[in-house]
Amino acid sequence: MSSRATWMSLFTVAVGLLPTAMAQICTPEDGYRYLVGRQSDLDEITAKCTTVNGSIAMTVNYTGSFHLPNIRNITNGLRWSLTQLENETPETTSIDLPDLEFLGGSLEISDISTLQSFTAPKLETVEWAANIQCTQEVDLRSLVDLEYLTIIGNISSLRLDSLRQVRQDMTICNKDGGCNPVQPPSNSLNISLPALHDAGHIFLKGRFSDLATPNLTNLTGFGNGFYNFKLLTAGGPPINVSFPELKYIQGEGLWLEGNISK
Ligand SMILES: *[C@@H]1O[C@H](CO)[C@@H](O)[C@H](O)[C@H]1NC(C)=O
Ligand SMILES: *[C@@H]1O[C@H](CO)[C@@H](O)[C@H](O)[C@H]1NC(C)=O
Ligand SMILES: *[C@@H]1O[C@H](CO)[C@@H](O)[C@H](O)[C@H]1NC(C)=O
Ligand SMILES: *[C@@H]1O[C@H](CO)[C@@H](O)[C@H](O)[C@H]1NC(C)=O
Ligand SMILES: *[C@@H]1O[C@H](CO)[C@@H](O)[C@H](O)[C@H]1NC(C)=O
Ligand SMILES: *[C@@H]1O[C@H](CO)[C@@H](O)[C@H](O)[C@H]1NC(C)=O
Ligand SMILES: *[C@@H]1O[C@H](CO)[C@@H](O)[C@H](O)[C@H]1NC(C)=O
Ligand SMILES: *[C@@H]1O[C@H](CO)[C@@H](O)[C@H](O)[C@H]1NC(C)=O
Repeated sequence: MSSRATWMSLFTVAVGLLPTAMAQICTPEDGYRYLVGRQSDLDEITAKCTTVNGSIAMTVNYTGSFHLPNIRNITNGLRWSLTQLENETPETTSIDLPDLEFLGGSLEISDISTLQSFTAPKLETVEWAANIQCTQEVDLRSLVDLEYLTIIGNISSLRLDSLRQVRQDMTICNKDGGCNPVQPPSNSLNISLPALHDAGHIFLKGRFSDLATPNLTNLTGFGNGFYNFKLLTAGGPPINVSFPELKYIQGEGLWLEGNISK
């Protein structure tokens, strides 16, 4: 990485009036994004910054783990950078954002077939969309609300404990669309959405072992789906489906299909 971070907190330190928890805002040299090709590029950012004023983009030659401690705020997005060579993708094995709380744009993490896990346990807000594909573990336990949520892959572990609102479309698919279309997922997925209160549309497809939506109250119809709630489950045990709090559906209603016991 060639860009050198702007270290805004130098001024604060010099003045010496504010506590050390002051945000250290770093702006990429091009005003737009940090291009990272390896962990050491990330280490350079995390050594100095708590806020990235812009985006972070992996280059296609990124390999191995992507570990970004210390950063609490990325004002734009996180993605990987496309090149003219269509078949090139990074070979990232894990993405770990242990301190991130806020993301001002979108998470766009798809087509990385080597990816095993995506974890951002403190991330509360994604201003636009999270699109996470081709991974086995997703931990977004603090995420509260966003516009679009898409999680697709051979997923065996999913944490969405705090998710309260998906303003438009929510898709969870563990039937491996695109990542490995030949082999079905080996594990059943337990979908637990204890806090979900409202969503535009919900589409769930795969091999599920459980589904809980105890607080789902309003299916608002915003977004692009047809059915407000569509569930297709196959290959797993029979699951119970109930909507104890569902009161308002604006649109085409529910479609449930597969191994559902009640
Ligand atoms: C953030 O980056 C923009 C350029 O994209 C710049 O105009 C602005 O001053 C930066 N904000 C801070 C707080 O550094
Ligand atoms: C990745 O490619 C960029 C050029 O696109 C190069 O500058 C960088 O050194 C490469 N990184 C690795 C780890 O090979
Ligand atoms: C993230 O950082 C930007 C730029 O400093 C700031 O405007 C925004 O309020 C921050 N968001 C949070 C939730 O800290
Ligand atoms: C799916 O994930 C499980 C671990 O949860 C792994 O054992 C299995 O090999 C994966 N299958 C494919 C096709 O990647
Ligand atoms: C479910 O909704 C109720 C009432 O709005 C709220 O008190 C409770 O905390 C919610 N449960 C979760 C797990 O968020
Ligand atoms: C699914 O996960 C929830 C929350 O962790 C748990 O309460 C429930 O028992 C699990 N269901 C199954 C079938 O394992
Ligand atoms: C359900 O959501 C729609 C769309 O946001 C809204 O117009 C309506 O008031 C909501 N209903 C309730 C009872 O919250
Ligand atoms: C489904 O409901 C039945 C009857 O209430 C119950 O015996 C069974 O344990 C439930 N299964 C799950 C996975 O919750």
